[in-house]
Amino acid sequence: MWVAEPATDLPYNRPLGAVPPDQFTGRFFVDTLVFPLSDQADNVTQIPTSAAPASALFQSSIKSLPLLGRGKVRDIYAVDSDKLLIVTSDRISAFDVVMPDPVPGKGKVLTRLAGFWFTKLADIVPNQLTGIDPESVVAADEREQVRGRALVVKRLRPLPIEAVVRGYLIGSGWKDYQITGGVCGVPLPIGLRLASKLPAPIFTPATKAVIGEHDENISFAQAQTACERAFADLPAGDGQTIAEQARAAAIALYTTAAAHAAARGIIIADTKFEFGVDGAGTLHLIDEALTPDSSRFWPADAYREGENPPSYDKQYLRDYLETLDWNKQAPAPSLPPAVLAQTQAKYTEACERLTGESFVD
Ligand SMILES: Nc1ncnc2c1ncn2[C@@H]1O[C@H](COP(=O)(O)OP(=O)(O)O)[C@@H](O)[C@H]1O
Ligand SMILES: [Mg+2]
Repeated sequence: MWVAEPATDLPYNRPLGAVPPDQFTGRFFVDTLVFPLSDQADNVTQIPTSAAPASALFQSSIKSLPLLGRGKVRDIYAVDSDKLLIVTSDRISAFDVVMPDPVPGKGKVLTRLAGFWFTKLADIVPNQLTGIDPESVVAADEREQVRGRALVVKRLRPLPIEAVVRGYLIGSGWKDYQITGGVCGVPLPIGLRLASKLPAPIFTPATKAVIGEHDENISFAQAQTACERAFADLPAGDGQTIAEQARAAAIALYTTAAAHAAARGIIIADTKFEFGVDGAGTLHLIDEALTPDSSRFWPADAYREGENPPSYDKQYLRDYLETLDWNKQAPAPSLPPAVLAQTQAKYTEACERLTGESFVD
């Protein structure tokens, strides 16, 4: 079985960090280089053939701002040279392929939950939030598209790594452990079982895969090398320091979030953060944080060491897809309404349990 890692979404776009420094304009990227629209990105823009509920947003179409690109889930527009508008669509991907049908309201649930975490965790590391109302940066007739599902964020230089933190042994971590006795080169005690809680959370970075490829787990030394290369325009050693800061921030963010979630009956088994740096080299939390797209959420009451736990994330969709004769290559099959509804329900429940508030659109 293909086991998705916490970094369940891969970029359609070349990671920003892959843009050579000589193509920067001062602190910021040249717009056209930031999110090159690839053929695959164009695939995302296909309107799904099956009928989506009217409330679902498969993709945004903001004409008043330049479109920089579309990820698997988010559409990114330039607000100005130092701010982006990120619109979280209702697209869902599994096995790194975007499904043809949206999960109605998913983008709003993700935005609500990520917003909750950004606020709660703001003391640990600076984040991308600007506090600017997304509705204020688009035309009047475009406000509906961004309401509740968009953020105006600082435009930062993403690190070329996925900052994965694991508190439990599952997925590729479990596979790695069975072969090497550790995960991503981090040694672990003997005798751990599937889904065992780790003695302490570990940082296990992954590459930000280029188009059509899966993320790959890498050692911390490799993550440092990647950051050194991506930030070669900064003084020597800065890239390595940025990687160290990302590791420390990721562990601290996970630890605080996991304690909050535990008090609400949810185990955050693992999660993936993205970080970026501003022109001064200051590390920021970017993208999204601690949602079912980027994390494994397990109901604490159903957790049993040694067993694959049920979850509040994409596992339900993946399990359904595993029942089909589908080769996990695009195009993905159309999803039955019941699968979409169940996925929506699971995402909403995770959001409500974690935020402590009912989710009202
Ligand atoms: N504050 C930011 N500054 C620059 N880039 C960002 C920022 N926040 C997110 N991004 C980038 O925007 C994209 C978000 O789109 P998404 O659909 O999540 O992409 P993916 O398919 O890579 O998961 C990612 O490439 C992410 O690195
Ligand atoms: Mg993403």
